[in-house]
Formats: sequence, structure tokens, C-alpha cells
Amino acid sequence: MNSIVSIEKVVKVYRVGSEDFTALHEISLEIEAGAFMSFVGPSGSGKTTLLNLIGGLDQPTSGSIFFKNVKLGELNRTALAEYRRKNLGFVFQTYNLLPVYSVYENILFPLLLDGNKESAVRQLVMDMVASVGLSDQIKKRPSQLSGGQCQRVAIARALVKKPALILADEPTANLDAENSYQILELMRELNKQFKAAFVFSTHDEKVTKYVTREVGLEDGRVCWDKRRNGFGSLE
Ligand SMILES: Nc1ncnc2c1ncn2[C@@H]1O[C@H](COP(=O)(O)OP(=O)(O)O)[C@@H](O)[C@H]1O
Ligand SMILES: [Mg+2]
Repeated sequence: MNSIVSIEKVVKVYRVGSEDFTALHEISLEIEAGAFMSFVGPSGSGKTTLLNLIGGLDQPTSGSIFFKNVKLGELNRTALAEYRRKNLGFVFQTYNLLPVYSVYENILFPLLLDGNKESAVRQLVMDMVASVGLSDQIKKRPSQLSGGQCQRVAIARALVKKPALILADEPTANLDAENSYQILELMRELNKQFKAAFVFSTHDEKVTKYVTREVGLEDGRVCWDKRRNGFGSLE
């Protein structure tokens, strides 16, 4: 198996006042390159905690996470930031777009942060806008867009640097059914087109119909791990 992420006996303990609370209990998982998968579980089951650890936004209390054989725990702050910048795209429930910027500028922004000149990446941004179906909305600001359109911008921003892995924490939680399906179809298409792995968290059944692998979390433990090919039922 061609793993992009290896999670080995990861434990996460949060200290709340004088009490320790174990949010993840010895999680071990492999995530394949190009995967389209979700962590499924009720609120509080540890989905966000696990995504944050994979994203290098937080460290496990014990155990290790490897990205392409690099152990995240051995990277210093600068190297971790570099890891995120080069390899990851993030999509959030609440879109997290910059409100004063247009669609075009929101997608351009990560490229400018990497030191690119606008003139050199303009076409790339335009192509990305087209890939998410927003060419006719390019000058609008987030407040002038629907939730579904905002999430399309966020997906384009996450993908524009062609990362190997997109982490999406409850990406359809604020969308109605129709928009959720459209966003999931779009992500599935982009997963095939760009070959980026998409790892979601969700408790939404609509998401689970689309993914090719579901990992069930409950109280910080993996309870099941199901795979399917195409759109058949999970095995
Ligand atoms: N920073 C934190 N400090 C203390 N407890 C936390 C913190 N973050 C999450 N938790 C707890 O860890 C558990 C898992 O949380 P989380 O990963 O956010 O779950 P989910 O995303 O599945 O809803 C919950 O019981 C939550 O209250
Ligand atoms: Mg969460």
C-alpha cells in the first residue's frame, strides 16, 4: 500500500483543570495516497483532534504520525509550518475566507504568501476558479456568495498549490442537502483530477455515501474501517 500518512498508536490527552481527559486512545491507521475517506462519529468522538494532529496543528501525547516517512514529532515549528505549507490544504466548516478579498484574491493569497508574483500565477488562479465553477463570480466578496459558493472558494484555495493531502473538518455541516451533494461531487471530481488525498471528518450521512473509505470513531477509538469501490455499498 502506498501510504501518505501513517498513524501509529497515537494517544491524545487533554488536561482540563486538574483532570486528564483522553480524547484519542492508541489510534493506528494508514491513509493511502489519493484516498477519499472520512472519519465518522458523533460530536466529541475525536474527529477534529485527529485531523489537527495529521495537520501538524497539535502534537500527540504519545505515538507518532508520519507523512511520507517523515515523523511530524521530529519537526521544529518552522519545519512543521513548512510541512503544512507545502503538502496540505485545509477546508473548514465555516469556510474561513478573508472577508475583504474577492473570490480571485482569496485563492491567490496562498500563492502570494509563497512568494509568487501575481502575474506569474494569474492563469493558475483563473483555472482554479473555473475548476470549482465560479468563473462568473470571480470579483465577488464572500458576503455576496452563498454558503455553497463560499465552500467552493475554500476548496479552490486549499487545492491551488496542488497539495498531496486535503484535510476537511465537517465541510458540509453548514450546507443544505443540495449544496452538500454538489460540494461532495466537486471534491470527488477534484480528487480524481488532482490526485490529492481528501480526508474528511463528518457525522453527515451524505458525506459517507460519497467516500471510498469510512473510519468510525467513538470515544476516541477506531470502531470500524470500511472500504468500497466506486459507489457500491461499504464492506
Ligand atoms: N483543547 C481541548 N481541551 C480539552 N478537551 C478537548 C479539547 N479539544 C477537544 N477536547 C475534547 O476531546 C474530545 C474530542 O473532541 P473533538 O476532537 O473536537 O471531537 P469531534 O470533532 O469528533 O466532535 C471531546 O470530548 C472534547 O471535549
Ligand atoms: Mg469536530
